[in-house]
Amino acid sequence: MRAIAVIAAGGSGERLGAQAPKALVVCGGRPLLAWCLDAALAAHGVAGAVVAAHAGALPAFELVAGEAAGRAGKPVVVTPGGPSRSHSVRAAIDAAGQLGVEWDACAVHDAARPLATPALFDACLAGLADADCVVAAAPVTDTVKVAGPDMVVTETPVRAELWAAQTPQVFTRSCLERALDVDDEHLANATDDASLAEAAGARVKLLQWDGPNHKVTLPGDLDTVGALLAGGV
Ligand code: CTP
Ligand code: MG
Repeated sequence: MRAIAVIAAGGSGERLGAQAPKALVVCGGRPLLAWCLDAALAAHGVAGAVVAAHAGALPAFELVAGEAAGRAGKPVVVTPGGPSRSHSVRAAIDAAGQLGVEWDACAVHDAARPLATPALFDACLAGLADADCVVAAAPVTDTVKVAGPDMVVTETPVRAELWAAQTPQVFTRSCLERALDVDDEHLANATDDASLAEAAGARVKLLQWDGPNHKVTLPGDLDTVGALLAGGV
């Protein structure tokens, strides 16, 4: 299969509270987006990448994307993202024709996860031999409680069956296009893209990933993740 990568980078990073959109924030010496693009483009199965960018800073995104394309020798297209994460992914898919490459699979990755490796992208893509969608995931280590707004616990799910979904989330092209072909309300409510594929009846599998793959969310994450990046993890 020949894949493209979509980097979801359209968020503003409210919880991080930086001056710039989160994908452009420097961590471990480089913008988060630069780490993500280099990892995705270094994967053997990835032929090019589309960045769904924060619409308020397109020239800065173009600069980072152009440098990554030069390093990898693979095309990168920047397009404005949308009002929610999955809207941004759909905007990226709509712009993918500009890459000029044929593709039948897509790896969707958060710009906020700069520790993902090329090997992780390729392992997820290999999983498509047996699934429509493959999600990098880690076993949940805490016991998880379900509670209502009154904080009264209603359920304690069996921990052995619980996984924390990360990205990359890879899809066959037909699966992703079908998953995103829903109304705006469904797109806006999706916290990841794999859940849209599940809702569309796709076979979604998890790929256990034990390496570090934290999402930069809060200011303190920049130190933790930056140290791991600087250490060459
Ligand atoms: N994302 C996106 N388009 C949006 C919202 C989010 O592409 N409209 C992307 C973010 O850029 C990020 C990924 O989805 O790479 C995961 O989202 P999150 O970590 O929540 O990032 P932000 O939405 O930017 O952060 P916050 O929720 O704190 O504002
Ligand atoms: Mg968000």
